[in-house]
Formats: sequence, structure tokens, C-alpha cells
Amino acid sequence: MARPVAICVVGSGYVGLIAAVSFAEIGHKVVCVDNDPARVKTLHEGRAPIYEHLLPELLAKHGGRRVEFTTDLGLAVRKSDAVFIAVGTPQGDTGAADLSYVEAVVSEIARSIDAYKVIVEKSTVPVYTNEWVRRVLYRHGVGPKSFDVVSNPEFLREGTAVLDFLHPDRIVVGVGTERAAELMRRIYDPLTSGSYYSQPDALRGTCNTSNPARLLVTSAQSAEIIKHASNAFLALKISFINAVANLAEAVEADIEDIAAGVGMDSRIGPKFLRAGLGYGGSCFPKDVAAFHCVAQEQRIDFQLLDEVRKINDRQRDVFFNKVLSALWTLRGKRLAALGLAFKGGTDDIRESPAIAVIKTLLDAGAKIAAYDPAAMDRAMTVLPQAENLHYAQDAYEASKNADAVLILTDWKEFAELDLVRLRESVRFPIVIDGRNLYTRQAMIDHDFTYVSFGRPDVPSGAMHPAGAMTESFGARNIQ
Ligand code: UGA
Repeated sequence: MARPVAICVVGSGYVGLIAAVSFAEIGHKVVCVDNDPARVKTLHEGRAPIYEHLLPELLAKHGGRRVEFTTDLGLAVRKSDAVFIAVGTPQGDTGAADLSYVEAVVSEIARSIDAYKVIVEKSTVPVYTNEWVRRVLYRHGVGPKSFDVVSNPEFLREGTAVLDFLHPDRIVVGVGTERAAELMRRIYDPLTSGSYYSQPDALRGTCNTSNPARLLVTSAQSAEIIKHASNAFLALKISFINAVANLAEAVEADIEDIAAGVGMDSRIGPKFLRAGLGYGGSCFPKDVAAFHCVAQEQRIDFQLLDEVRKINDRQRDVFFNKVLSALWTLRGKRLAALGLAFKGGTDDIRESPAIAVIKTLLDAGAKIAAYDPAAMDRAMTVLPQAENLHYAQDAYEASKNADAVLILTDWKEFAELDLVRLRESVRFPIVIDGRNLYTRQAMIDHDFTYVSFGRPDVPSGAMHPAGAMTESFGARNIQ
């Protein structure tokens, strides 16, 4: 293996923390800095401040050994050869990314530089941020020979972040000098040479010694755009399939068959074609808006991105209307809300479609019993403390005496419910599935009325002989 590198990671959010423990996992010496003393204390104690698969294991393995946590940025910078900036770039008022945290960190780095450093943008930033970072360093009197700026965007997903980091589809390094490129290659060498995958205790995933990670070297501008364009394209795929789902519904076709058929084209691929309530999270909504602003600043017409957002927003209304059509009026109706996180496998509720839908239902007077395997504590901080909202211990308790069960997040456990038990819990057997987790047949077999996205509804009584209506249902609109 290439010699380990002394790395500083600034920010212990999803990206920073996962990068820090993963760099330690592949053999580097890491100092992770955060200006929140409470968070640093938690990390010192070996506790994970976020719910993320494999993070507790890596913290236990490397915490206090190959990865340290501190609030002292200056010391961490001085100890390191490469400084990764992984602080938040939230959405500002105009939709553009707010880079004030990045600027503050760069100014502090400038005050601490005592030898050549490679400064790496890991946060998602608009194109030309590398240029701004350089300017801020110059303004603080740091000479051009003392640093290089590199863009190394991160593509990890919440819920599978550690494995995404260690088994990436690609590593993108946007760099202007060979000196910085060489250090970046050394940092990722365990993944690109495959030496990490040959270790007996390596975490297994899609890469291996004969199929190691690929590293793409580009200019810094190109790397910055690769990140924005990737997220925007994935969001576009989701909005596209959701628009097709609405069309499928109108003509009584089946979006699951359509997505399978479209996704079999290797040029399109099967991933990110799951129709439903649409995307949320801390990345897609923000990045689609920020990328659109980048285009506008360059006077490039990229209205497509606004359409992507509009289709996504509309899916929540489409879902609300499905609830209304199934239940008629909502005041006083008891609804089980399964899911609060923006997707399964995480406790993150930022921009969660589930939270938005629940707020609308509460406003309409419904009584909600909500359950999420991981996100309830966080949800309590943003949902109103209302008499008509309570939190249940599991999906069955939430569904007790419910007029309808709403599936809002694609947790695996919601796709594997014991439908016999669910049928016994509810008042009326109605499932409105915002994530298309069930086949229509499973719901017919258990005698549920089932409403989903882009597929014909399963009406009540579909399992009984009179339920031949399921079959004739498709003929309704045929002239
Ligand atoms: C996303 C990207 O997938 C990562 O590559 C990227 O690094 C990350 O943003 C980031 O920029 O930090 P993440 O936000 O964790 O990752 O979540 P995804 O798994 O991409 O899902 C995003 C949203 O799309 C979720 O609400 C999910 O439910 C929804 N989705 C996803 C669909 O509605 N349909 C699909 O087919 C796929």
C-alpha cells in the first residue's frame, strides 16, 4: 500500500464523518474537526451522532486510534497534508448554495497554514468555488506555492454511506497540478489499487481486487459540475418516472411493468425509476435548485431543472388527492402514517415528503398515528405537538383501528409487513402506498383496498368472485 497520508476533515456531518472514518479504514491518519463541542464529545465517547449503517462499527474500530475528533481546526490543519472541507452548503434565499460556512473555514485554514497543503472541496459546491477558495487564501496572504485546491465530490447515499465510500462507482478528482494529483492518488490508492479489498477484514461490497475503484482526473470546474449534474440527473430520472406513472394511471397501465421495460435498456438502466411520493433529503432538492442557479448565472436556459422540481412537488398533492378519493372526508379520520424519514435506512427527515404529507393531513383535520423505525425523535422536533398526532411503537400499533394505512417511506420493514396481522389491526382495510412497496396481488390476496402510484387501484372486495371487477376495471375508459 502507498504511504498513509495525514488527513484533516472539516465537518462531521454525513459526508465529513463518513469520509473521516472511511479514510481511517483504508489506512490513513485522520483528524476530524467540528465547531460543535457537544458533537465532538459524542464522537470522543465513540457514539455515532447519526443513524448510519456500519458507522458505529468503524467508530469503534478506529476512534481514538486512526481517527481523532477535535474542535481545534488550526492544530488539525497543521498536522495534515490534505484538508477536506465537508461543511454544509445549505440553500440560500435565491436557491443558490450558501457558501458562508465554506468561506469561514477557508479563512481559518488560511490563518493556520504553515506548509504546503492540498485543500479539498468535499462539500457539494457550485462551479468556480475552487477559484473562490483560492482567492480567499490569497487575500489572507497565503502564497500560491503553499497550497493547491482540489475538487473531490462525494457520491455517497445516506443509509449505505460507508459502503458507497469504500466501493464507489467512481472517484472524481478535479485538480490543476501534478503535485496535488499525486497526493490525491495516494489517498485513494487502497481503493484504486485494490489493496484494501485484499485485506481479510475489509468491508465487502461491489469492488474487489480484480474490479477496484476507478479514479477520474478532471479540471476542478468539471469535477464541481459532475457532482451537480449527477444529482440533477438522478432527480430528473425520478421526476420522469413519476410523470410517466401519472400517465400510466390515466390509461390503466402499470408503472412497475413500464419501469422494468424501460430500465432493461442498458442505456437507461433500472435504478432510480421507482415511482411514488418523489425525492426528498438534504441533497436533491437543494442541488437541483443550486444547479439551476448556476446555469442562470451563466445565462444558460435550463428550465428542465425547474420542471423536475415542479413534478416532484406535485407528487405530494397527487398523494393527498388519493387519500381524499379513498376516504372522502378527512376530519376525524384515523390514519396510520408509516414512515417519516425521507427514505428508508436513515433517520434524516430533511425535505422529507412524508413530513410534508403528514402536515397537510393534520391541517385537513385527520388524526395521525405515525411510526418510523429511526426518525421519530427527529420528526418530533419539526411536526406540531398536536392532539391529533401521536407516535406508535410499531407499524401494527400505528394501524390499530385505522381508517387507512399510508405508506410514506420505503423502509424494508414496511415492505415486509405481516398482512394478516395488519388486516386484523385496522378498522377498514385500506392501504394507500406512496412508495409502491406491494404487488397488487399481495393486496388482493389479503383483501385490502389498495391505492398506489401508476397502477390500477385494487378496489374493495377484489378477492371475492364479485372482485372480477379487478379484471374489468381496466376496461373503464376504453372507447
Ligand atoms: C443522493 C445521491 O444518490 C448520492 O449519490 C449523493 O452523494 C447524495 O445525494 C448527496 O449529494 O450527498 P441521498 O440523498 O442519500 O443521496 O438519497 P437517494 O438514495 O439518492 O434518494 C433520494 C430521494 O429520492 C429519496 O427521497 C428517495 O426516496 C427518492 N427516490 C430514489 C425515489 O423516489 N425513487 C427512486 O427510484 C430513487
